[in-house]
Amino acid sequence: MANRLYWLLPLALLSACQNEPKYTQYYNEGQQLYEKHCSNCHQSEGTGLGLVYPPLVNADYMDAHADEVLCLIRYGRKGPLTVNGKEYNQPMPGVPLLTDLEVAEVATYIYNTFGHERGIQDVKEVGEQLKRCEK
Ligand code: HEC
Repeated sequence: MANRLYWLLPLALLSACQNEPKYTQYYNEGQQLYEKHCSNCHQSEGTGLGLVYPPLVNADYMDAHADEVLCLIRYGRKGPLTVNGKEYNQPMPGVPLLTDLEVAEVATYIYNTFGHERGIQDVKEVGEQLKRCEK
């Protein structure tokens, strides 16, 4: 048992280091995009605003509907939606000018800042999902 741990630890550290520059880049770019396009409503801390703008912090919606979250970032959304037991129903405008990479960066930022810990959001997978969004 102890022997096995000796091997696992350096391996885990090694893979974390290899991913780091790309992750940091996504995260930092994502933060700037978030401040510019999202924080007006969802607030810098991701708390949302009353019953008008839903929170991103620990939002169960983000865990249950990860694919849809990518779509709403670019295309917006309207209709009722429930986040952590509270209902919201205001239209959210999307940001259609965001590229696939920028959507991946924003997603990386919000998922890893507001209590979801999903790691980097792969730009290829994000692009595939964005093609499936209903416009
Ligand atoms: C004009 C205000 C506004 C802006 C700007 C905005 N949102 Fe929203 N957002 C909303 C509203 C309102 C909803 C609920 C939509 C509904 O009821 O259909 C929502 C829903 C969401 C949800 C799903 C619900 C939740 O809280 O988990 C996520 C995730 C989200 N927004 C992320 C973003 C991101 C990322 C950006 C920036 C690219 C952004 N929003 C920009 C108002 C906004």
